[in-house]
Amino acid sequence: MRKNIVAGNWKMNNDLAATKTLISELIELKKTSNSEIMIAPTFVNLLEASKLLKETSIQVVSQNMHYAESGAFTGEISAKMLKAVGVNAVILGHSERREYFNEDDLILKEKVDKALQESMDVIFCFGEQLDDRNSENHFKVVESQIKNALFHLPSSSWKSVILAYEPVWAIGTGQTASPEQAQEMHAYIRKLVAEHYNTSISEDVSILYGGSVKPENAKEIFGKLDVDGGLIGGAALDAKSFMAIINSF
Ligand code: PGA
Repeated sequence: MRKNIVAGNWKMNNDLAATKTLISELIELKKTSNSEIMIAPTFVNLLEASKLLKETSIQVVSQNMHYAESGAFTGEISAKMLKAVGVNAVILGHSERREYFNEDDLILKEKVDKALQESMDVIFCFGEQLDDRNSENHFKVVESQIKNALFHLPSSSWKSVILAYEPVWAIGTGQTASPEQAQEMHAYIRKLVAEHYNTSISEDVSILYGGSVKPENAKEIFGKLDVDGGLIGGAALDAKSFMAIINSF
């Protein structure tokens, strides 16, 4: 059975003090929930976040990592370094990493491999640009992003993979994909996984939607058959709205 997951991607927001405040508000507001909850603070605040959340069910996730074991990669962070501060999952392939930091399918494939080799879970993001959708290329674009970075994996790795469909035109724009558009793409992705692997893997993999999810639209989006939760940016920076989204299941 696949899990419902709501993950907050804090991006380059919240210094140490703000991180502590937001985490204590989340702990305070959190009720029992059937969904897995994850938050992704910036690198410098991961240690503090994992200490504060140690006794809770909220998981701390990294927003990125390097694919090398260690070495001369100024400014980078390795999987082992993340694990050493209690971080066991990583977001890879976010459109902002693809767009502003030139991360392509090849680099992402290496990152995915390294994370899995270190027994980390991967939230793998992908999604089309507005031009792709307008030219009806969105299925093709998403298909190649997934195939190029993930379809070399053995079946056994898929228990550690979470997929996140994030149409670029919906990220931070206030323009959400309609629940029907999300469902249509999620069903397509699940079919791709079933065709390449099998239905047991495709039915078990959680597929999150990301892009302007808010308390006002979460219920309708999460209500769709193939939407298993969300990757939340802006609305995850406010404890009440993040919790309202989690409680939309
Ligand atoms: P948004 O960001 O919710 O602010 O649109 C989502 C994301 O980038 O993961």
